[in-house]
Amino acid sequence: MAMTIDMTGKTVLLTGAGRGLGKEMALVLADCGADVFLGNRKEGEGRETVQEIEKMGRRAGFRTCDVAKAEDVERLVQEAVKFGGGTLDVFINAAGVVSTEDLMVIKDDEVKRLFDINVLGTSHAIQSGLRQMMGQRSGNIITVSSIAGRTNMGVLQHYCASKAAVISLTQAGAKAGAPHGVRVNSIAPGIIRTAMWEEILDGMASDWNGREAAKIQSPEEREKNWEEFIQKFIPLGRPQQAEDIAWATAFLASDYAREITGQVLTIDGGTTMV
Ligand SMILES: NC(=O)c1ccc[n+]([C@@H]2O[C@H](COP(=O)([O-])OP(=O)(O)OC[C@H]3O[C@@H](n4cnc5c(N)ncnc54)[C@H](O)[C@@H]3O)[C@@H](O)[C@H]2O)c1
Repeated sequence: MAMTIDMTGKTVLLTGAGRGLGKEMALVLADCGADVFLGNRKEGEGRETVQEIEKMGRRAGFRTCDVAKAEDVERLVQEAVKFGGGTLDVFINAAGVVSTEDLMVIKDDEVKRLFDINVLGTSHAIQSGLRQMMGQRSGNIITVSSIAGRTNMGVLQHYCASKAAVISLTQAGAKAGAPHGVRVNSIAPGIIRTAMWEEILDGMASDWNGREAAKIQSPEEREKNWEEFIQKFIPLGRPQQAEDIAWATAFLASDYAREITGQVLTIDGGTTMV
């Protein structure tokens, strides 16, 4: 039988869908037929995604949300449930930030910023998502971790730690949700040239000493650093594209993944194979 991901009639909530991977996930899921509700810290980019989805002839909605704030995430879920006519089928927490400061120079306020968004943000998404979905006895939550959470890369150390915490929280959520018919999984993207990766290339140019230490770099040097990183870390020898991550997410969100919970689906061209 042919396999088609059909999300018609499903309500999907995404955070961090103003740009990058979250946005691509929102577009792909809308293309699969889902009604999509978005939460993003920056209103302008979030509303642009809404307009793109509406142009596709699909329903979309938006609410400003900082995932670091529990009350924002709780309200976002309630709004998404209203938008969905009483049910929330999928909640994808794609909002996240990176810090490029080395283990030995990073200060507590930067660690706190990173952990507030990546770790607390994930915790809020799982808590609010589970509260709703356990009550309705269905649904699935997808966190966004990283290859950085599966292996400490020797750079971006605190980012790696934050994403390892995302994986652990995902497993905790899966255990809590399973008896109530709720799945919780994580998508671990590899290396995709989004705005976040431009920030990482800035960090590389500072030898990981913070943005202000960044050396003047020619565009050619920047591309050389990028290419060297790709060749060094990715066995398939190429970066992933945002749609590679979105396709895997759509699979996890769909009923084809109905027996999958507590797992990390890694899309990285072989970077973290063991
Ligand atoms: N790009 C990669 O190579 C890569 C690799 C592995 C994991 N990831 C993860 O994928 C996710 C998306 O990354 P990206 O590359 O698309 O990043 P990005 O910076 O391009 O986009 C992040 C989005 O999240 C939003 N956001 C940031 N902080 C927020 C907050 N507190 N509340 C709500 N929204 C917030 C931003 O406004 C933006 O729309 C992140 O969790 C990131 O850690 C990315």
